[in-house]
Amino acid sequence: MRIPLVAANWKMNGNKAFAERFFSDFDLQAIAAHVVVCPPFPYIPLVSQVAEDRERFSVGAQNLSQESSGAYTGEISAEMLLDWNARYVIIGHSERRSLYGETSELVAKKFVVAQQAGLIPILCVGETLQEREQERTLEVIANQLKAVSDIIESDTWKHSVVAYEPVWAIGTGKTATPEEAQDVHQFIRGELGNVGEQIQILYGGSVKSANASALFAQADIDGALVGGASLDAKEFAAICRAAE
Ligand code: G3P
Repeated sequence: MRIPLVAANWKMNGNKAFAERFFSDFDLQAIAAHVVVCPPFPYIPLVSQVAEDRERFSVGAQNLSQESSGAYTGEISAEMLLDWNARYVIIGHSERRSLYGETSELVAKKFVVAQQAGLIPILCVGETLQEREQERTLEVIANQLKAVSDIIESDTWKHSVVAYEPVWAIGTGKTATPEEAQDVHQFIRGELGNVGEQIQILYGGSVKSANASALFAQADIDGALVGGASLDAKEFAAICRAAE
């Protein structure tokens, strides 16, 4: 039985006042799904304090360095995230891949670093609109997963989460239909081998309270990785409740 998981990716949004106000509006008590909030790095301590002693609420990060320490200006290590009790870390988000040149090989290295530190990587995979129009969606995703499979023991997938985020649905308001998303989630689960049934596979890409229930009703959609809608406490709470 996979526990529903809803993760918030705040991206580079908010400030200290926003983060403080968010949790005064977001009623964690009313939510049964497991919730993760991944704020920008400076607000991880604040969210970590909210997560303290809460079983179903965790703090996460949006990225981490593949290096452990040293002359890497601007980078954040896994150990630094653990200092603030981070449990999850988003790895290979399409914005890291497209804007910051993260290759699938680098993403795979970060995945392993996260797991070795005891963090749970949320591995993002997904195709561009052009790749979908060329009917290359499954090929692209298979390659993104293979970069990781090639360097890990297959059963360590179970200490991870995978997020299918069609690039053409991120921030566009164009959500994949529940059927489109289910088809890809089913494929991903098959690619993860004998532990596939144990792994939470999240959908990300214009998830809103209005479309969340139909997505979560799909057999292989175990939750969501939410961007824009996660910046509105009440909207995000409604999405979390839809996952229960
Ligand atoms: O990581 C989640 C994000 O990429 C989805 O963004 O704004 O389409 O929910 P959004």
